Amino acid sequence: MALRITVIGTGYLGATHAAAMAELGFEVLGLDVVPEKIAMLSAGKVPMYEPGLEEILRKHVAGIEGSTGRLRFTTSWEEAGAFGDVHFVCVNTPQKHGEYACDMSYVDSAFESLAPQLTRPALVVGKSTVPVGSAARLADRLAELAPAGADVELAWNPEFLREGFAVDDTLHPDRIVVGVRSERAEKLLREVYAGPVGEGTPFVVTDFPTAELVKTSANSFLATKISFINAMAEVCEAADGDVAKLAEALGHDERIGKKFLRAGVGFGGGCLPKDIRAFMARAGELGADQALTFLREVDSINMRRRGHMVELAREAVGGGSFLGKRVAVLGASFKPDSDDVRDSPALNVAGQIHLQGGQVTVFDPKGMANARRLFPTLGYADTALDAVRGADVVLHLTEWREFRELDAKALGEVAGARIILDGRNALDPVAWREAGWTYRAMGRPKA
Ligand code: UDX
Repeated sequence: MALRITVIGTGYLGATHAAAMAELGFEVLGLDVVPEKIAMLSAGKVPMYEPGLEEILRKHVAGIEGSTGRLRFTTSWEEAGAFGDVHFVCVNTPQKHGEYACDMSYVDSAFESLAPQLTRPALVVGKSTVPVGSAARLADRLAELAPAGADVELAWNPEFLREGFAVDDTLHPDRIVVGVRSERAEKLLREVYAGPVGEGTPFVVTDFPTAELVKTSANSFLATKISFINAMAEVCEAADGDVAKLAEALGHDERIGKKFLRAGVGFGGGCLPKDIRAFMARAGELGADQALTFLREVDSINMRRRGHMVELAREAVGGGSFLGKRVAVLGASFKPDSDDVRDSPALNVAGQIHLQGGQVTVFDPKGMANARRLFPTLGYADTALDAVRGADVVLHLTEWREFRELDAKALGEVAGARIILDGRNALDPVAWREAGWTYRAMGRPKA
């Protein structure tokens, strides 16, 4: 009989994973403790903006006309325990308030609720990003709590999906990593991922700690790469070099590669910043803190970018105070094709300028509702043109395609002053300058 799969936690990761598992042909039951989320997903609606996700959800959610009916949602742990052969735990692990460490309370409570319901053989698969050592601890907890005893096992299978590409990354991952303690667990996971593995996705089998570490070290590497190029941007500014050209030239070296070398206001979002901090905190607990002190520098280079953008904006409005100055901010989400504003550099810069007395007006193609919730006191406009109207300076802080396609001439006609600061090195300097704008980007010569 085909495997039956549950997905515990239906946030970004879980909702995508559940829909993708249904797409791969499995019967899937998604569980969340928030009834409103379950009601929404059961109606075929996705609570965030993620290209393609709603389509595959609607293709499979039971009760939607023409769907396969393979995907259902519940709030009942009992139902999940009875249903699943494989249980994927996809709850979030945010940063703890006031410290670097990761908050494991959602993962812990998912295991505490699920385990007592496991009365038949099952594989529990952790997907959440956790501090190394968590899987071993959770395996002990399962052994203590699951009525089926040794027939219930744990595996760790980190997730590498990127927001904005979540569906594709889940259906066609660039690698699958599984931390297992038995051949049975490996075999079950090979069955779950037979589709992508058949397409050639590498399947890497490890122990628990290595699987946990793959995820945190991958994110640390990506964060380091971004902060490296941002550090070079600082040097370029001091030496009158051009970081965009520098990155292009570096990227031709295959050992370096051209991806993740875009200098600008730096990284944000729900993963990279908190993951590198949690990694440092965990290394400290393990007595290996020296190994990761460089991540402190990666973090501070990144955070410095935001302050630097504020200073560039101050310079642009005359060098003194922001009082009475109008600042247009293009972008609110932490990256394009996402409505996620968690730790968004764009909103952080907008907020700092606002707190210093500037009149900030923000526009984002998808992130407006979330931005309003987080920063209700900022000004918001319905279009980029409206945001720019009367502005003393325009800040481009999230590289949406829509912003690259803006008509610089038309914006110039409504702007108070034609000064644009490109915080993502993504606009075409020639086009903006030709339209009469002073174009300035981070890490590049002034003209
Ligand atoms: C990241 C990892 O890529 C993913 O594998 C992991 O599962 C979760 O964390 P995500 O947070 O969706 O994914 O975004 P990502 O595309 O990695 O971008 C992170 C941040 O870095 C964004 O704010 C982006 O704007 C910034 N970035 C990215 C740069 O500033 N420069 C670059 O060259 C690339």
